[in-house]
Amino acid sequence: MTKGLFITLEGGEGAGKSTQLAYVRQRIESAGIPLQVTREPGGTPLAEQIRELLLDHREETMAADTELLLMFAARAQHLATLIRPALARGEWVLCDRFTDATYAYQGGGRGIDFTRIGVLEDWVQGELRPDLTLLLDLPVEVGMARAGQRGALDRFEREQRDFFERVRAAYLARAAQEPQRFRIIDAAQDIAAVQRQIDAALAPLLEQSGVGA
Ligand SMILES: Nc1ncnc2c1ncn2[C@@H]1O[C@H](COP(=O)(O)OP(=O)(O)O)[C@@H](O)[C@H]1O
Ligand SMILES: [Mg+2]
Repeated sequence: MTKGLFITLEGGEGAGKSTQLAYVRQRIESAGIPLQVTREPGGTPLAEQIRELLLDHREETMAADTELLLMFAARAQHLATLIRPALARGEWVLCDRFTDATYAYQGGGRGIDFTRIGVLEDWVQGELRPDLTLLLDLPVEVGMARAGQRGALDRFEREQRDFFERVRAAYLARAAQEPQRFRIIDAAQDIAAVQRQIDAALAPLLEQSGVGA
């Protein structure tokens, strides 16, 4: 059975994921490849409702395990109704954040043991892992300055600097563990320079797909 490729964009706040998502989409679509573009947490109506639970402020503090389980609850819905069917049809899927973000934020940031996240990853995803992960990496203060210009901060964006340092370190540790899947992009550069790095990372996949880069 032909199967599409699953590409994820990762990185901290203000790294440029949403900005570059549009660029990656255009590169893939202009190669004539059918593509689903989506995001986490969210991507389906129900999963987007879970996203609101995760991002909104409320008086009651959310326990770290609640946050972790909601992330995977949303992911299970996203996988079942959008990601897996698209890949099975041979479409590519491009997702703004995925499970590496759970390792980075709930693992690195909140301090949940990575092995517990791995149990949920295996349970919810089975064998499914991204084929390529573009990690947009940049110093925390640069990302925070960019994100700060976007307006009201969500529940995660309100965290302190050391939280985001742990998030960044966890992302880089995962990239070091799986160098064949990850491409680390220097996201502190200007938008055009980031796009050139993304092109280099995408070129082998677009060539493999037989449609040329
Ligand atoms: N390479 C870049 N250089 C400078 N500003 C950037 C760059 N990439 C994105 N931005 C700006 O930074 C802000 C955050 O970008 P965004 O794509 O929303 O980040 P993310 O989705 O990773 O949080 C936006 O205002 C965007 O226009
Ligand atoms: Mg974004």
